[in-house]
Amino acid sequence: MVSTGQAPAAQLRVLVSEEALRQAVARLAAAIDRDYAGKQPVLVGVLKGSFIFLADLVRRLSVPVEVDFVRVASYGTATRTSGQVRLVSPLKTDVRGRDVVIVEDVIDSALTVRYLLPYLRRRRPASLRVCAMFLKETGTPPPVPVDYLGMTIPNVFVVGYGLDYAEQYRQLPDLRVLE
Ligand code: XMP
Ligand code: MG
Repeated sequence: MVSTGQAPAAQLRVLVSEEALRQAVARLAAAIDRDYAGKQPVLVGVLKGSFIFLADLVRRLSVPVEVDFVRVASYGTATRTSGQVRLVSPLKTDVRGRDVVIVEDVIDSALTVRYLLPYLRRRRPASLRVCAMFLKETGTPPPVPVDYLGMTIPNVFVVGYGLDYAEQYRQLPDLRVLE
């Protein structure tokens, strides 16, 4: 077994239960179903953190969708971003004239979404919206429009439900606080 020197998952405080996550995803899916009736949006997941949220979301949707991913990295330490976003894996789907929804796990400083919006806009989609599972309450309103929001959370570092600390804890079924 690999020892990472990190706290066992059982010691981390649960911030959002599996049931609350499930309900939030159901609400988001209902809103997207309503807004995109008769359309076939392209959901663009932001790797890696959004993979579990996106997987849950698409299984709740009735509208047909296409799924693609971008992968971004921000320089910095494990719990603090440096303010620099860079694209590690670009979008492969031609989204010109398509209805695009960015699917992000958590919006913190919003740097990632602010980077991705112009990146995707340059590809001339018919429409472009943002869906995020979590928005951190940082005291200032988010500098980007969040069209579909699962829930706001306190400004703490969270893991689980796809989110990691040094690549650990992504598999936790609920959202926990790393203290
Ligand atoms: P920004 O600041 O660009 O942050 O809105 C978005 C990205 O930063 C990562 N992030 C976190 N990852 N726990 C994590 O595991 C957190 O509490 C957290 N806050 C931000 C995440 O990759 C997200 O896509
Ligand atoms: Mg991360």
